[in-house]
Amino acid sequence: MKIISTDNYDDMSKKAANIILSQVIMKPNAVLGLATGGTPVGTYKQLVEWYKKGDIDFSEVTTVNLDEYRGLPREHKQSYWYFMHINFFNHVNIKKSNIHIPDGFDMDAQKVCKEYDNIIQSVGGIDLQLLGIGNDGHIGFNEPATVFETNTHCTDLTNSTIEANKRFFENGEEVPRQAYTMGIKAIMQAKKVLMVANGESKADIINKALFGPVTPEVPASILQIHPDFILVADKAALSKINVN
Ligand code: GLP
Repeated sequence: MKIISTDNYDDMSKKAANIILSQVIMKPNAVLGLATGGTPVGTYKQLVEWYKKGDIDFSEVTTVNLDEYRGLPREHKQSYWYFMHINFFNHVNIKKSNIHIPDGFDMDAQKVCKEYDNIIQSVGGIDLQLLGIGNDGHIGFNEPATVFETNTHCTDLTNSTIEANKRFFENGEEVPRQAYTMGIKAIMQAKKVLMVANGESKADIINKALFGPVTPEVPASILQIHPDFILVADKAALSKINVN
């Protein structure tokens, strides 16, 4: 595990974007696992900026997103499909056919999840997986549970996640109660995992996930045993750990 401490959100975003940039330079047809949430927005913004300057080319890149709310159409302003297009895909030269996000509007959970695992397999697995972290330690939408759910699955969102994500909706009632998420297996099989975290509100969970016991009750704790895991976080998010 490597921890990169940054001064602030912009610095975190730039450093994380640099790691993605290096990946794409080293392997122009890389498979990037992508994440949503407020934290990676700055990372996408930086990548778009570099793309506009001609410093990065996404024409051969393939992406697989971590998750999607179940029941939201793509056009819904809070769907992760919409988020990814507004924040990233619409601004770079990625091929539409190379973008993969679980189909949240298809209610056939078994079909959606099986198809998504097939996609991850058919693209050859993930070279670099970008992750944020939920307040309860979730990654993607792998919520705290009694076992690590390995494959793509449909999950019930915890109250803590609904509470945290309601800031994006008109009110709490509108937050979908379920989501499709990539499982722990695909995340752990990614060659490199890059987590971004910022702000004091993430300090407790970062400490618990990365220095507490490895347990499905804190899904991100599994990353402690990933062979190439990098956390890029600002000082506030690292304030509860002894960085030495
Ligand atoms: C959502 C996403 C996660 C993300 C988490 C944290 O629940 N499914 O992938 O890591 O939010 O989001 P934020 O970065 O806004 O704190």
